[in-house]
Amino acid sequence: MTQHLAAPAAPTTGTTGTHTGWWRDAVIYQVYPRSFADSNGDGMGDLEGIRSRLPYLKELGVDAVWLSPFYASPQADAGYDVADYRAIDPMFGTLHDADALIREAHGLGLRIIVDLVPNHCSDQHDWFKQALREGAGSRLRERFHFRPGKGENGELPPNDWESIFGGPAWTRVEDGEWYLHLFAPEQPDFNWEHPAVQDEFRSILRFWLDLGADGFRVDVAHGLVKAPGLPDLGAKDQLKLLGNDVMPFFDQDAVHEVYRAWRRILDEYEGDRILVAEAWTPTVERTALYVRPDEMHQAFNFQYLTTDWDAAALREVIDGSLAAMRPVGAPTTWVLSNHDVTRHATRFANPPGLGTQLREPGDRELGLRRARAATVLMLALPGSAYVYQGEELGLPDVTDLPDEVRQDPSFFRAAGQDGFRDGCRVPIPWSGTEAPYGFGPVAGGPSWLPQPDAWAGLSVEAQTGDPASMLELYRSALAVRRSHPALGAGESVDWLPSPAGVLAFRRTAADGSAFVCTVNTTGAPVRLPLPGRLLLASAEPATDGPDAELPADSAAWWAV
Ligand code: NOJ
Repeated sequence: MTQHLAAPAAPTTGTTGTHTGWWRDAVIYQVYPRSFADSNGDGMGDLEGIRSRLPYLKELGVDAVWLSPFYASPQADAGYDVADYRAIDPMFGTLHDADALIREAHGLGLRIIVDLVPNHCSDQHDWFKQALREGAGSRLRERFHFRPGKGENGELPPNDWESIFGGPAWTRVEDGEWYLHLFAPEQPDFNWEHPAVQDEFRSILRFWLDLGADGFRVDVAHGLVKAPGLPDLGAKDQLKLLGNDVMPFFDQDAVHEVYRAWRRILDEYEGDRILVAEAWTPTVERTALYVRPDEMHQAFNFQYLTTDWDAAALREVIDGSLAAMRPVGAPTTWVLSNHDVTRHATRFANPPGLGTQLREPGDRELGLRRARAATVLMLALPGSAYVYQGEELGLPDVTDLPDEVRQDPSFFRAAGQDGFRDGCRVPIPWSGTEAPYGFGPVAGGPSWLPQPDAWAGLSVEAQTGDPASMLELYRSALAVRRSHPALGAGESVDWLPSPAGVLAFRRTAADGSAFVCTVNTTGAPVRLPLPGRLLLASAEPATDGPDAELPADSAAWWAV
């Protein structure tokens, strides 16, 4: 297989203040492989399907593509349970397909970021199978967290940690020892103090860098290192505590050593390869620690993702994020949806404060209006933005999937109490009037989760050329962002006076060009002095002499 280390043909150059690097203002599109495009008609998306749709992504106007895991996996957690980090699961294709995908993306000027899952593997990974075979107390068990249980006969878990997917974070094996899994029992946690684990992941990084990957999205980046001695947390309902404090299993300071070592490896390679942290930390300040100059390049801004559609709250999180990243010189990221949370078109359709796992469709029209405005706001902020597949079509979460088709392990672990992530993972509608709407090659063919009937009207084909569609809004917004130097680049926003419920800010590029972004988060029109010449809007403002009237739940860009 040919190795290709060269950067994509037509890279974009991002600038943030005095810093440079393509990722600093990149728009990165998340592909969830099983739900993007199915080339062979088995109902499951695959690498060849993704390759065939690269021209769509190029035309959409994104800079890079992040692929959720496609590695060999029993799929106990949709591929986040990896059995072989150097092999492609046959349901997604082959290593040859991965090579072709990376190569073709580069030919189009698109970068490819792969998902790396270092906190845990699959219970079908060779190391874990060997560890089980070798028996209690064996050296090979030291690569994981095996412990004797508590209680008279070791019948109680070694500590009180709870799994993120519900239930204890420990499972007992036949010989009586217990092993740690912060997620499903099929996902044993690696012991990151073990040199073999550290060496193995450095080698895995090189494997994908050699194949041409432009970077890694690092799964559970905050989880690798556990507090020494694995101390009890001393509380129940631990999931509710996440995000409030540093936990003994998350966000330990020693984890940063791992990323310093990885950064040195990436820096050996040409072409600006990047590390992106999936780190759910209590504060943006703690998130910023992951993107210090000698660590990762970006971290997802989950504080932004979890902010309600409310002007004051948005302004606070925008200011807080920019302030937290400034001292470490990292770009801020902005993200509204991903494969773990309710799609924002549905979140914004529901009352605020309900969190990211919703079961109600809410007011669809309201959700769409706000989703359009939220995109226009996100793409006007300095830094890098993430787009989750299907949000450019305005897809809602599918809130009424029957229990028997659900596959999210957290749904089963929590006995239906939680775990509604399947709703944001339903395959993409591309074309036609019959399911799977071009997701697979044959009308009437299968899709691993059923698509709602209404999705015929939301397909790429149905929206293309319709200026009022969500898809055309994304295409226009990304095109304007590319051509306007003040969008994306830079480090700050200058807030302008605005009425309650409205945001207005100005951004100025190094060449002196500037624009104003206005956002009306209220449910009623608002009049403002005309900010400038209209560049783009989620809903057309009315202009009336010296004034503009911003429609309810809308955002606009104005050249000034
Ligand atoms: C975060 C991933 O985004 C999620 O889908 C997965 O279940 C967990 N990490 C465990 O790998």
